[in-house]
Amino acid sequence: MSGALRGRVVVVTGASSGIGAATAKMLSGEGAKVALAARREEALLGVQSGLEAGAESLVQPTDVTDRGEVKALVERAGGELGPVDALVNCAGVMYYTLMKNAREEEWDRTVEVNCKGALNCVGAVLPGMLGRGRGHIVTVSSDAGRKVFPGLAVYSATKFFVEALSQGLRLETAGTGVKVTTIQSGNVATGLRALSDDGEALEQYGQPTGARVLDPEDVASSVVYALKRPDHVSVNEILVEPRDEPV
Ligand SMILES: NC(=O)c1ccc[n+]([C@@H]2O[C@H](COP(=O)([O-])OP(=O)(O)OC[C@H]3O[C@@H](n4cnc5c(N)ncnc54)[C@H](OP(=O)(O)O)[C@@H]3O)[C@@H](O)[C@H]2O)c1
Repeated sequence: MSGALRGRVVVVTGASSGIGAATAKMLSGEGAKVALAARREEALLGVQSGLEAGAESLVQPTDVTDRGEVKALVERAGGELGPVDALVNCAGVMYYTLMKNAREEEWDRTVEVNCKGALNCVGAVLPGMLGRGRGHIVTVSSDAGRKVFPGLAVYSATKFFVEALSQGLRLETAGTGVKVTTIQSGNVATGLRALSDDGEALEQYGQPTGARVLDPEDVASSVVYALKRPDHVSVNEILVEPRDEPV
């Protein structure tokens, strides 16, 4: 494969749909070797079959909340594709819900996947990256990591978490060759919103504004932009939003 990212090994979580699938495809088109991870194997295989002929990739069903599965993913990617150059932390869930409705299981799930899942992935790749003196950890955060949206209090809190985590990681790894990026995306046309069934929250806060929202490829191209910068350049944060929905 030719392309600016030729031969780079990238692990993409949440690669079975939406932004993660678009990112894996775009990275592969740039010549990267991609390890596709999420829970739904059939969907991952569908994404893999859409990659260009000659693309190097692997599919590994992975629940990011399971630390052992995440470590196995990174080990397999390292063994079959080569040492992991970049991680794209994209797996996530989002539930529109009102705090007063106390959807505790949804709160737990959001924290488990968005916070602990991201930590499991960082923990699995960071030692290797530090050992090799190079690496890039990209997390698909949200504009909800900059501003809290009503109806999305817990989700916003998890995105503030990944922003804080990434800031701390960036400060601590300065000088080691590791880069840390967050992509703060606004509304994207994916299946994410369909997870929500708190009708009250959806009615009050979850109605479309009518603005043209982003396509998954709009966010994927931000990830690719960050990964393509020269070694000495770090794109720390990208805020990418529908033109008519500024925060
Ligand atoms: N859509 C938006 O408007 C928007 C805006 C800002 C940020 N984001 C962020 O973008 C990311 C991707 O979301 P999306 O919009 O592309 O929605 P999506 O199509 O629903 O994608 C979510 C991905 O996360 C994976 N996932 C969920 N739980 C997982 C788990 N326990 N282990 C492994 N993978 C898991 C899903 O795969 P499986 O179900 O196969 O496991 C799926 O691939 C999320 O972090 C989200 O917060 C989205």
